[in-house]
Amino acid sequence: MRHQQSDMATSNAPGKVYLFGEHAVVYGEPAVPCAIERRATVTVETREDSRLRVSAQDLSLDGFTVEYDGTTAGQPEVDVTEELVEAAMGYVDGAIEQARDAADEPTAGFDVTVESSIPLGAGLGSSAAVVVATIDAAARALGVTLDREELADRAYQVEYEVQAGQASRADTFCSTMGGAVRVEDDDCQTLSSPDLPFVIGYDGGAGDTGALVSGVRALKSEYDFAADTVESIGDLVEQGLETLEDGDIEELGRLMDFNHGLLAALGVSSRSLDSMVWAAREAGATGAKLTGAGGGGCIVALDETDATETALNYSPACEESFRARLDTDGVRREE
Ligand code: PMV
Repeated sequence: MRHQQSDMATSNAPGKVYLFGEHAVVYGEPAVPCAIERRATVTVETREDSRLRVSAQDLSLDGFTVEYDGTTAGQPEVDVTEELVEAAMGYVDGAIEQARDAADEPTAGFDVTVESSIPLGAGLGSSAAVVVATIDAAARALGVTLDREELADRAYQVEYEVQAGQASRADTFCSTMGGAVRVEDDDCQTLSSPDLPFVIGYDGGAGDTGALVSGVRALKSEYDFAADTVESIGDLVEQGLETLEDGDIEELGRLMDFNHGLLAALGVSSRSLDSMVWAAREAGATGAKLTGAGGGGCIVALDETDATETALNYSPACEESFRARLDTDGVRREE
């Protein structure tokens, strides 16, 4: 920790996709999340009093504004669902608590402004990015610069609390460190990776992560071949890690295709995800798969050209597609 004089600070942190391994990671297999060039930026200013005021903007691709005062008073003025506001507030509150704790200033008050270009609730790690950037900026505004290990751990504690114990370290570690990372239970490592030309397709919806995880668990206990499928994903991830080290993009794409097939076998794909995956493949993507919990939300493809993004934009299943290359930077500090 390093102390400095400041009462205002801005930090930003990236979202993520899963290159390989979602769902199987729940059963102790390794997974490889990758940070993407879509960020949440949080500006924090200390207040004279101990209140917390949060305003959030552009939290979806279409953009909307959420503004509310404090943690207790005030009706939020919003055009999004209450659950979304409560969730966003829970993450920011938790992050502020961590910063207060880190700086040993339990009553510090803040004005917090969140701006994000990561679609909310789409499996792209928007909450983790907001939490990482908020803890980092708020701690710095109190004169404390956290090292990245501590930041990642504190961010994980926030997700763990807000998500009632249903959080892995994947999103928060990846967002803090950037690049490709390997996560296996509590063991998190950064990896070296070639530049990955990610293209993301978003169907505008979201799956129910809890229900999808339970569905896989039930399938796994009922059928040995479903349990084998989970293990096969683990094997594929190990192979993917070697391929990443070799920098072989073609082979990475083939493994992504295979990973999608195994996830579909576990029942977590959907019509829109499958159709976006096929639109990407037909456009010439090196590989394509769903990313995150599935059931709806996003796919990730690899394509150096614009063909996949264009094809996805014309696909009826896709609401929005965009390029978001692998981002080797994790949390960034702006002065
Ligand atoms: O949809 P996301 O990005 O929250 O990812 C969920 C990943 C799962 O493996 C399905 C669940 C988990 O907690 O790891």
